[in-house]
Amino acid sequence: MPHPDALRWDERYSRETERFALRAPRHLLTSHLDLLPPNGLILDAACGTTSTGRYLAAHGWRVIALDVSNAALRLARQKVKKDASPVSFAVMDMVNPWLPESHFDVILNFYFLSRPIIPTYRQALKPGGLLFFETYLREPHANAERYLESQELRRFFDDWDILHYIEVERLVRARSGYEESRWTAQLIARKPK
Ligand SMILES: C[S@@+](CC[C@H](N)C(=O)[O-])C[C@H]1O[C@@H](n2cnc3c(N)ncnc32)[C@H](O)[C@@H]1O
Repeated sequence: MPHPDALRWDERYSRETERFALRAPRHLLTSHLDLLPPNGLILDAACGTTSTGRYLAAHGWRVIALDVSNAALRLARQKVKKDASPVSFAVMDMVNPWLPESHFDVILNFYFLSRPIIPTYRQALKPGGLLFFETYLREPHANAERYLESQELRRFFDDWDILHYIEVERLVRARSGYEESRWTAQLIARKPK
């Protein structure tokens, strides 16, 4: 039986192919490349078309890219540069997955929220590893399951070294095609050694 998130997102990726395929790598990551360990193993979680993961692979990092949508991963595979490091793709439900312990140097979580995955990220990063996390804050009347409360992301990692945390208003392109302003939280945190 198909996963309900896969049905929803496969349909969006088929309908909005251009919009998703042309997405740029996330600025939170590209503006902090100096923090990344050379040759590290990077998990791009709920990666979509893996714009950020593909950017890192093109710069020599090894990337594992996981998403529930096969349509997203098909698009992503077509776009990996020929001379890039390999990107390993797998279809996976990231709401509450098992991940190996102390395995990744860096985990990326952009614009996806699953609260049960937070303890999994905490154990799957190597000591000294980095988490990049950015997603929307909840607006009035929005579904609380998919959006962060103010300061919630920081609280999940308040025993880690927080290198960057802000809540910032951004212009995003809505499905209508128009730009709208949305509040997001951004975090970069290092797991203690
Ligand atoms: C807004 S997109 C973000 C994609 C990418 N991280 C980025 O920065 O552009 C949200 C992604 O979460 C994925 N997703 C939704 N539910 C999921 C689930 N249960 N498990 C894994 N991925 C899921 C969708 O397929 C989609 O690719």
